[in-house]
Amino acid sequence: MSPLSRRWIYVAIVYFCLAVGLGVFMGLSGDHRLMAVHAHMNLLGWVTLALIGIIYHYFPKAATSRLASLQFWLHNLTLPVMMGALALVILGTPQAGPVLGSSAVVMLLAVLLFAGNLLWRRT
Ligand code: HEM
Ligand code: HEM
Repeated sequence: MSPLSRRWIYVAIVYFCLAVGLGVFMGLSGDHRLMAVHAHMNLLGWVTLALIGIIYHYFPKAATSRLASLQFWLHNLTLPVMMGALALVILGTPQAGPVLGSSAVVMLLAVLLFAGNLLWRRT
């Protein structure tokens, strides 16, 4: 497995632990306010990162491109900011709204980079 695939999967595991930790906290405390954070840490973190890692394993040419590295950093620097801003907005700090909105747009860019990289360098 390429080093890039490994990196995606290692970070995915970190999100899995954090997201399930938050899920257990929500279940035990009965406070489900952070459900959207839990859901996206699991789905945009754990599931998406693991899938990308596995997909790059089957597209080794795409995995070695500069775009792949840029996409890795864009996704993984944006996701914590996006989740932090989402938590702040939910917990009553609407001032974090613009950060949430812009980080979501940057996340979309990272997703498009992934799509473009995979389509252009698939063979
Ligand atoms: C021990 C593990 C987990 C616990 C204790 C847990 C707990 C919870 C709780 C308490 C909620 C809020 C439910 C509500 O208010 O209606 C929730 C929602 C959610 N969880 Fe988890 N969760 C766990 C694992 C996962 C995993 C592994 C995923 C995805 C890979 C996941 C995805 C979701 C999603 C998408 C929602 C939102 C569901 C909706 O829109 O109604 N959870 N979880
Ligand atoms: C930039 C990326 C994304 C943005 C901006 C985004 C945005 C949103 C928004 C605004 C909602 C409605 C929340 C609410 O009504 O409280 C939502 C819900 C949901 N999204 Fe996403 N989403 C993104 C990525 C994803 C991905 C990649 C997945 C799955 C692989 C996903 C799965 C879900 C699920 C299951 C729900 C319902 C659970 C909940 O309300 O938290 N989202 N998302």
